[in-house]
Amino acid sequence: MSQKAPQLPNRQTPFSDAFVAFIPTKWAPYSEEMPAALPASEFAPARRDAVSAAFPGERIVVPAGNLVVRSNDTDYNFRPHSAFAHLTGLGADREPDAVLVLEPTFVENEDGKPECSSHEATLYFKPRAPRTDAEFYADARYGEMWVGQRESLEEMAAMTGLQTRSLHELPNALSQKFGRIPTRMVRDVDASLTTLVDDLRRRNGGADPSSDDELAVMLSELRLIKDDFELEQLQAACDATTVGFEAVAADLPTAVRNGRGERWCEGVFELHARHLGNGVGYGSICASGDHANTLHWIRNDGDLHEGDLILCDMGVEVDTLYTADVTRTLPISGTFTPAQRKVYDAVLAAQNAGIAAARAGASFSDVHDAAIRVVAEHLHAWGILPVPVEESLDPVNGGQHRRWMVHGTSHHLGLDVHDCAQARREFYRDGKLREGMVITVEPGIYFKSTDLLVPEELRGIGVRIEDDIVITDGEARLLSDALPREADDVEAWLARQQA
Ligand code: GLY
Ligand code: MN
Ligand code: MN
Repeated sequence: MSQKAPQLPNRQTPFSDAFVAFIPTKWAPYSEEMPAALPASEFAPARRDAVSAAFPGERIVVPAGNLVVRSNDTDYNFRPHSAFAHLTGLGADREPDAVLVLEPTFVENEDGKPECSSHEATLYFKPRAPRTDAEFYADARYGEMWVGQRESLEEMAAMTGLQTRSLHELPNALSQKFGRIPTRMVRDVDASLTTLVDDLRRRNGGADPSSDDELAVMLSELRLIKDDFELEQLQAACDATTVGFEAVAADLPTAVRNGRGERWCEGVFELHARHLGNGVGYGSICASGDHANTLHWIRNDGDLHEGDLILCDMGVEVDTLYTADVTRTLPISGTFTPAQRKVYDAVLAAQNAGIAAARAGASFSDVHDAAIRVVAEHLHAWGILPVPVEESLDPVNGGQHRRWMVHGTSHHLGLDVHDCAQARREFYRDGKLREGMVITVEPGIYFKSTDLLVPEELRGIGVRIEDDIVITDGEARLLSDALPREADDVEAWLARQQA
């Protein structure tokens, strides 16, 4: 069936009727071979079962999100919301506008009354349009000629193990029994879907906004303990990150020579991040000299100077969207000065104390407490901390040491670099560490060049060391230990990369 030519941007040549009639003809049929199941699809059903058990009899709506405009009619690369990726197994670049719906199923109990049994999962997405459709050649966002062949309903079902339906069926599916089935959604990921659900709620007697918040909390807490697949992916992310760091280390002399060396380091790392994975898991921080004392220095436009340090906080996000988060602080000329080494060794001692405290049964905050005590002790021994260590560590009346390390020591790591961020305080900041959790340990000491409390030879030195660890019932397992941490080992490693 041929169609009318579609509306086009002003710069584009209109399609003639002859083209519209001609374009659908003589294409090989789509392959009948089904694609392989996604690696995460084996693990996603257990995750969906947990959501089902937490919200019996309720409808759960989890959108992937939409393409986001970068400029005019060009979009950022698509990255699905992490809750959607977690529950579907869909990873890099999949699947804009898709929505996962867990529909409660009911069976009759002995009294003939409906009783909730479990949920049926359906993935609503935009399947490929036939080549007779103008989308095929004229839709730059979704058309096969522009962005490649999309999956059919059957192909997406084979990849995810989910029942699939076309996205245009979603509004009707959501309005079915809306007043009788409580509906919770991951809000503010897909604006038009949020509006649709809120409108349905208004028409059906209002909404309790806290119900969506509870879902967000549950989905975040569901990711606190990683399954075997997630641990494997996080290891892969750390291994790819090692490759990226090695390449940056090898290129430091070139980065010095070329000028804007921070950007050079950023670019070299991101080359490997794109090559080995989906990209970087967060904006790389490549901060040389005093820039290291700006915690989120992502402008990365500075030169590299011989004799300075460069703090590189960089992580590869693999195709399944799990990310590493690793920091190394490197001497640009290959060896630490005595002043740099003094700060470096203090940070390393703090990190070792934090890692030693990180085991199942300990509190999450024990890791920070152990690391920050070492930081405060060094600051005191150097005559910088203006009060005794215990006074500074007093959480209510102290905190002076925080001038030189204002951030926390740890956060959960996973699909999001700051994973599980909606988890309740009692399960996160005030919670216990449990086997299978993955956290960072990342103390630092930051002496700004403008800090008059700091001896002159230490001003402008900023050091952070960050590793990713798995909590076990014994010593923590380092995922990022392929990269050196001891100062001597860092120097030897730099020399090897540059040989
Ligand atoms: N790279 C962000 C962080 O370390 O938390
Ligand atoms: Mn980091
Ligand atoms: Mn971190």
